Amino acid sequence: MRTDIAQPIRLTDYRPPDYLIDTVDLDVKLDPHATRVLARLTIRPNPRGRAGADLVLDGDSLVPRRIVLDGVALDCAANFVTPDRLTLATPPQRVFTLEIETEIDPSANTCLMGLYRSGAAYCTQCEAEGFRRITYFLDRPDVLSVYTTRLEAEIAEAPVLLGNGNPTAAGMIENTSRHFAVWHDPFPKPCYLFALVGGDLGAIRDEFVTASGRKVALAIYVEHGKEASATYAMDALKRSMRWDEEAFGREYDLDVFNIVAVSDFNMGAMENKGLNIFNDKYVLASPHTATDTDYAQIEAVIAHEYFHNWTGNRITCRDWFQLCLKEGLTVYRDHEFSAAMRSPAVRRIADVRTLRAQQFPEDAGPLAHNVRPDSYLEINNFYTATVYEKGAELIRMLKVLIGAGAFRAGMDLYFERHDGTAATIEEFIACFAEKSGRDLTQFLRWYNQSGTPLVEVAATYDPNAKRLALDLRQSCKKTPGQDMKQPFLIPIEIGLIGEQGETLPLATEGESGASAQELAHGVIELAEAQRRVIFHNLPTRPVISFLRGFSAPVRLAYDVSEADLVTLVAHDSDSFNRWQAAQSYATRLLLRNIDLIRAGKMPEPDMAFIAALKRVLDAGTIDPAFAAQVVTLPGEADIAREIAEDVDPEAIFTARKVLRETIGRELASPLLETYEKLTDTAAYSPDAAAAGRRALRNAALDLYAAGQRDQAKDTGKDQGLALALQQFEQTRFMTDKIAALGVIAARPGAEREAALDTFYKTYASEPLVIDKWFALQAMIPEPETLARVKRLLEHPAFSLGNPNRVRALVGAFAAGNQTQFNAPDGSGYDFIVNAVLTLDSRNPQVAARLLSAFKSWRMLEAERRRLAEAALRQVVGAAHLSPDVKDIAERSLA
Ligand code: TRP
Ligand code: ZN
Repeated sequence: MRTDIAQPIRLTDYRPPDYLIDTVDLDVKLDPHATRVLARLTIRPNPRGRAGADLVLDGDSLVPRRIVLDGVALDCAANFVTPDRLTLATPPQRVFTLEIETEIDPSANTCLMGLYRSGAAYCTQCEAEGFRRITYFLDRPDVLSVYTTRLEAEIAEAPVLLGNGNPTAAGMIENTSRHFAVWHDPFPKPCYLFALVGGDLGAIRDEFVTASGRKVALAIYVEHGKEASATYAMDALKRSMRWDEEAFGREYDLDVFNIVAVSDFNMGAMENKGLNIFNDKYVLASPHTATDTDYAQIEAVIAHEYFHNWTGNRITCRDWFQLCLKEGLTVYRDHEFSAAMRSPAVRRIADVRTLRAQQFPEDAGPLAHNVRPDSYLEINNFYTATVYEKGAELIRMLKVLIGAGAFRAGMDLYFERHDGTAATIEEFIACFAEKSGRDLTQFLRWYNQSGTPLVEVAATYDPNAKRLALDLRQSCKKTPGQDMKQPFLIPIEIGLIGEQGETLPLATEGESGASAQELAHGVIELAEAQRRVIFHNLPTRPVISFLRGFSAPVRLAYDVSEADLVTLVAHDSDSFNRWQAAQSYATRLLLRNIDLIRAGKMPEPDMAFIAALKRVLDAGTIDPAFAAQVVTLPGEADIAREIAEDVDPEAIFTARKVLRETIGRELASPLLETYEKLTDTAAYSPDAAAAGRRALRNAALDLYAAGQRDQAKDTGKDQGLALALQQFEQTRFMTDKIAALGVIAARPGAEREAALDTFYKTYASEPLVIDKWFALQAMIPEPETLARVKRLLEHPAFSLGNPNRVRALVGAFAAGNQTQFNAPDGSGYDFIVNAVLTLDSRNPQVAARLLSAFKSWRMLEAERRRLAEAALRQVVGAAHLSPDVKDIAERSLA
């Protein structure tokens, strides 16, 4: 762990490296406690660096054993080398070799960065700055080297030895029980893409033939016995490889592509060149252990890491400020892939739900930062929804602005011009400016200004002139370090709908204040603080479908009537906005009800809303996956964000619960019919259509049961619980099992405890399924939950050392249980603070992420705000904080 006094790193301070490392030859002798790493580096002065500068190599907690400069051994005890740094004061001003031998203890590595062990296997994680925990190096993404890795291990302990690139040699070491393997990666890469794996692993193998006919050997390595659960991931990999050829013209470039699944992993997965390492949660799936959501996530993460081969590996980032250059772009690419594999409309809704749930709160709180940050203390804390999800939205928006043709041409130019280099956002955007002929200077503000813009719309219809005037206005609240915002370039896709639901043309006749181009494409560009656009030839007042497809990551303030929302739900040709209209209606209703509840009154059912939902359920023509999205109400955090200040999580929860009960009661029979109609008797298939039917069926069960719980108060007979119990007992498939258990878990009592018990016993040998069991219990919205979670911390299946377990139990409580994390007595905050502090000495990255659950504390009502602030101050005041946790705590309070 680094102990330096923290100095912020600034984008404006960027300087090219003074030295370059052309080749890296590693010889790694794996050993549980004393792994020896011999690194042979070929170094030369960078013509673009400062001549004669010191060579300063990064290290992190390293033990140097031998250092040899051009054949001459240096004294390792001298003070030019510390655990964190190796400085050569006057290195040769020509090509020279530096040999460094370090010794590391992978078994003692609990932060899961650098070389560590997951179970009995050895693996590495080097992004962002983990390579310096393996050897001294210029640990920065703009130093690209060709790597050759020789691995050596006891053959019994690690029969499988994997590295980046292609295998070039392997064999036994004579007269020993050890063997070796040599891997060579011909593509120059930054050290964050280095990886190695050693262990006793099973594998499934396949082959892919690229568009130009090259054969690629594919393998996915898993724990012995889990091979069958990797077949869906393999299928997703082959589909990703094909799709990248078809959609982006990108072929794979090595002879092999290996994926390794490990159970101890800080994030989702890592795109190491030719050797992706995955959290096993994003590889392993069987119908009995994985839900449809898990399958969709596996497909997306497999694609994401594969797509990095071009967007991230062949073209990497100049510095970590450019992180969105690879992450935003690659998320955009995986979104497009999932849309192509599944229903584009449903994927878009899911992606926007994620953006709003994860990124909007970031932008609205103390942790707000640019998609391309301009300074950081700890880069690990910038692998955020803003960099990833908003970063992806910016690419999508760029495509809306310049059109699909210019977008593809710009991507092609980017791949051609920057292949083999470490690039910047400016260089990326320049490719699109060139191909579209547009000046994209203003668009770059999206990268350099944080905060979610607000677009206010006022519509005035003049029946005599048959004209509709739209007054658009944009603003953006100040965010940390940014008091003033320049206007963003906001593409707003728009449609007009007639009384019968027909599409009305965006009339070009007369003075409209919009360009012919804008009207032809239905995309209005809001570039100024305000703008007026007029539509002509409208004999009756049209209903406006605004921000179709969510064409820009903004918040919308538009005073549309509820009747118009109902029209949009029924008729909008843009599916996203049909869903959005239902969400907007529900949000309004909930906000109104929250005021009533806080005033001690009981809300009345809104029959127009109920009727709109009923039409969605009744229409036989609607895609079930889409219908499931429509009948799913906005989440508690979504509602909190709308309220934005003086938030009472309890009132939000109650309003949402009451509305769900109302829908369940009023629509009991259509919900039950939907449930029965969608009962699938066919064999399980994870495809999108079958998953969509299960999604709607389980949404119907959930709402129906909510209504029955309410009824049961009078009748004493809970039909919803009975139906859920029946599904729970009969199904063998995880999607339906966990959906039923969710309904059961919402009801305190013996049935719940018995079902939880049965579930545990059934899946005790499947840690990823037990994670669902932990999470489900952590999210029960009852005051007893905290005690339950504390009990579960002691459960034999729980381990503080495994990030998946921590996220499932502690993370789910903090992020997924609004009422109990925000318990009015502060007990939820205390619990999370204690967990963060305990975890911090072991795994700072996971601890810091857990602490970011406090990101929205400032919008809470006064008493909770006071308690949350005190909790954060307790963190700041604690001794021996990691830079990770300290940074999040301090920024949260700033
Ligand atoms: N680059 C990885 C991805 O998004 C994620 C990643 C970054 C990561 N840092 C990490 C994964 C640390 C594990 C640990 O694809
Ligand atoms: Zn990524």
